[in-house]
Amino acid sequence: MRVCVIGTGYVGLVTGACLAHIGHSVICVDNNEEKVKLMKSGQSPIFEPGLSEIMQSAIQSGNIEFTTDISAGVSHGEILFIAVGTPPLPTGESDTRYVEAVARGIGANLDGGYKVIVNKSTVPIGSGDWVRMLVMDGIAEQKTLVTAGGAASQEKLPEYASEFDVVSNPEFLREGSAVYDTFNPDRIVLGGNSPRAIDMMKELYAPIVERNFASDKSLPQVPVLATDLSSAEMIKYAANAFLATKISFINEVANICDRVGADITQVAKGIGLDSRIGSKFLQAGIGWGGSCFPKDVSALVHTADDYGYEAQLLKAAVSVNERQRLIALEKLQQALKILKGKTVGLLGLTFKPDTDDLRDAPALNLIEQLNRLGAKVKAYDPIISQTGMRHGLSGVLVETDAERLADGCDALVLVTEWEQFSNLDYAKMAKLMSHAVMIDGRNFLDPETMVRAGFQYIGVGR
Ligand code: NAD
Ligand code: UDX
Repeated sequence: MRVCVIGTGYVGLVTGACLAHIGHSVICVDNNEEKVKLMKSGQSPIFEPGLSEIMQSAIQSGNIEFTTDISAGVSHGEILFIAVGTPPLPTGESDTRYVEAVARGIGANLDGGYKVIVNKSTVPIGSGDWVRMLVMDGIAEQKTLVTAGGAASQEKLPEYASEFDVVSNPEFLREGSAVYDTFNPDRIVLGGNSPRAIDMMKELYAPIVERNFASDKSLPQVPVLATDLSSAEMIKYAANAFLATKISFINEVANICDRVGADITQVAKGIGLDSRIGSKFLQAGIGWGGSCFPKDVSALVHTADDYGYEAQLLKAAVSVNERQRLIALEKLQQALKILKGKTVGLLGLTFKPDTDDLRDAPALNLIEQLNRLGAKVKAYDPIISQTGMRHGLSGVLVETDAERLADGCDALVLVTEWEQFSNLDYAKMAKLMSHAVMIDGRNFLDPETMVRAGFQYIGVGR
């Protein structure tokens, strides 16, 4: 099928590349010229395991193209994905201006033929109808322009209003395993009231639904859930809010474990074996971050507020998380007492491993608070140190390896559980430090091994 994806960030580029990989003809549109130039040369502007390989093979097979020209994309696609960002505003609401610009842009460039316009961006509930309205506005602008241009060209305009449908197709991929998640989804959600549009979406995803590209092809088909527009939009928010609340819950229990002398890793195992609870997302630590959980939970709280309902549980999940973000600081103060004049080294900066994404990363809070208290902050992150990406980072010296990081530090804080942090030469690192304190913000390291290496080991709830 012919597909256009507008917005080629973590979601749009992965979606476009994976759809091209399974045989569709995809045009990816982004208004960032530098990104488009890079993608045309087969390079991914983001670090995401397996993405460059999929992009390059799609470019070679001629299934994918990149452009800044929205009109080329709109005219090519029978399915048009909106995958631009919806970042948080200071109020907690989503900033939907990019979605608005794209929806109008689609309307202004529709040139006849039935199209399905798909909201893949996470958008406030009710946005499906709003997008339809904006597309109609775009069409109206186009008509005005063409009318101003002359009667002859006006005749070329078909009756667009009945020529498109809007579908909500929320995205559930995780950064760091985005390509895997796209080929191995737990479910596909399609919201909309047009059977024609839903059928086209089912055809688009058929190779994924049938597990042709799955790592385990023997699994049953991927469930496809067709809903109304608002329910699909709500499913996205509710899923993220549930997962974030689950993490806040285990972090709360970890804090109680710290006080009573229980071990949260054993507790999480013990409760996770109950199939009603499940073992996933019970990893206690320094709190959830990233581009989705914080903004989506806040946006849902805000939506509830707009409708006169106080989402008390979700507000509590957010405030538990805000406090949890400072847990490493408290532990540093307990171990080192005065932080002024001390040097703290952070192992990891990104909000989770296998991504270069620093959006709402717990490391950023920690750096800010340590600076405020007069500590010097250094960091080593496998991807940030390598790429030299510093967007959003200040008040921290980024070192090129873990041993340089340890040199002269009073304490290390493991912020991101990068796999390579399991095999560092910790005995050597401990010797390079002024005080060998290790705050394991992800309960990732083995406490006994750390003690043998010469560290005072402090985990979260263990
Ligand atoms: P992103 O910021 O990485 O990418 C957005 C892209 O859109 C950028 O490349 C930007 O240049 C481009 N863009 C902005 N305005 C444009 C315009 N007018 N025309 C063309 N391109 C334009 O965002 P993301 O992380 O990929 O998130 C996209 C959406 O998907 C958000 O709503 C987000 O909540 C949702 N989502 C994200 C994730 C994730 O893990 N990142 C997962 C699920 C859902
Ligand atoms: C999340 C959702 O999982 C995904 O479905 C959605 O599409 C986008 O948002 P992502 O933000 O990429 O994905 O990462 P995720 O693995 O969910 O982790 C989010 C945050 O929670 C990270 O900061 C991570 O460190 C933290 N986390 C996760 C925990 O603290 N404990 C856990 O047990 C799991």
